[in-house]
Amino acid sequence: MSDSFRAILASDVEGKAVAQMTDMSVADLPTEGVLIDVAFSALNYKDGLALNGNLGKVMRSLPMIPGIDLSGTVLESPDSRFRPGDEVLVTGWGLSETEWGGFGQRARVKADFLTKIPGGLDLKRAMAIGTAGFTAMLSVMALDDHQVTKDQSPVLVTGAAGGVGSVAVAVLVANGYRVAASTGRAETHDYLKSLGAEEIIERAELAQAGRPLDKERWAGVVDTVGSQTLATALAQVVRHGSVAACGLAGGSDLPTTVLPFILRGVNLLGIDSVYCPAERRERAWQRLAAELPREKLDAMTEVIPFDALIERSKLILKGQVRGRTVVDLRA
Ligand SMILES: NC(=O)c1ccc[n+]([C@@H]2O[C@H](COP(=O)([O-])OP(=O)(O)OC[C@H]3O[C@@H](n4cnc5c(N)ncnc54)[C@H](OP(=O)(O)O)[C@@H]3O)[C@@H](O)[C@H]2O)c1
Repeated sequence: MSDSFRAILASDVEGKAVAQMTDMSVADLPTEGVLIDVAFSALNYKDGLALNGNLGKVMRSLPMIPGIDLSGTVLESPDSRFRPGDEVLVTGWGLSETEWGGFGQRARVKADFLTKIPGGLDLKRAMAIGTAGFTAMLSVMALDDHQVTKDQSPVLVTGAAGGVGSVAVAVLVANGYRVAASTGRAETHDYLKSLGAEEIIERAELAQAGRPLDKERWAGVVDTVGSQTLATALAQVVRHGSVAACGLAGGSDLPTTVLPFILRGVNLLGIDSVYCPAERRERAWQRLAAELPREKLDAMTEVIPFDALIERSKLILKGQVRGRTVVDLRA
């Protein structure tokens, strides 16, 4: 197999961080870890930041191959847990921050970061899920752990037509939760209903400040938006309900009061997909393989060729990407 491959390399060009497609050699990769023939990666919000001038905020050193997700086949492994031919995936673990990532046809990654592709998934569907879908499942697991009820009020998903939101809707519905999907895009209403949402909430309704304690509406919340949307949602959660906070698409601030917590016992649960411990990670992937309906996953996924990635990444920062975008590094 040839030593040369194509990759997007982010480097410091005269004081400016620039990401561009280039030809590289396996000798250019970090020297330690498992060598992988990368088949697919994915486009996540954080990848949009890395590819569009916010390199410094995501990547801690340059040059670096960005990309927080990858799936592929092991070519060489110094670690006895993996052998050539094994199909593996990586999400998070500092890829595109402190570790080289998945936007190259070859990657060398620490063995501890690798997850074997769970039975029932393949390399492409693993990336259709990717960090976004994995985060959605961690959010659902957090709600499950806190006994969010299924038979009364719905669970609210914000930023529902995005990657995390779409998978969260489908997994919640598959687990018997009733789902209210909040979106700012009217053209996604039919899509969200096809994923199983029973109610659509306008984004603008949650984006405005309300009372510190409002009418109880949501048994639980998966929030990808943050800021006023999260504050409004917290004020509308039922007594002893729970909120999984996983995103900041609308801002990183949180203009709330302590009232939902001390008067209604609402739980605010933080979700970190990047350094999620291996055992919980394994459980989340097993659940994704078992519970996420394939036809819904396929319906929310678009596959693009590697060459189209940089251009497409501009759209995710504008909130214009629907569902999940898989990058085919072999196309
Ligand atoms: N905690 C973690 O480990 C973790 C992991 C993955 C992602 N995240 C975070 O989760 C968020 C979603 O990631 P993603 O990959 O799903 O991104 P995405 O596909 O772009 O989805 C984000 C969605 O948020 C909504 N949105 C965008 N801009 C908004 C605004 N200004 N105000 C309100 N809503 C807005 C849009 O949904 P509608 O069009 O439906 O309104 C958009 O589709 C990001 O903030 C990302 O950084 C966190």
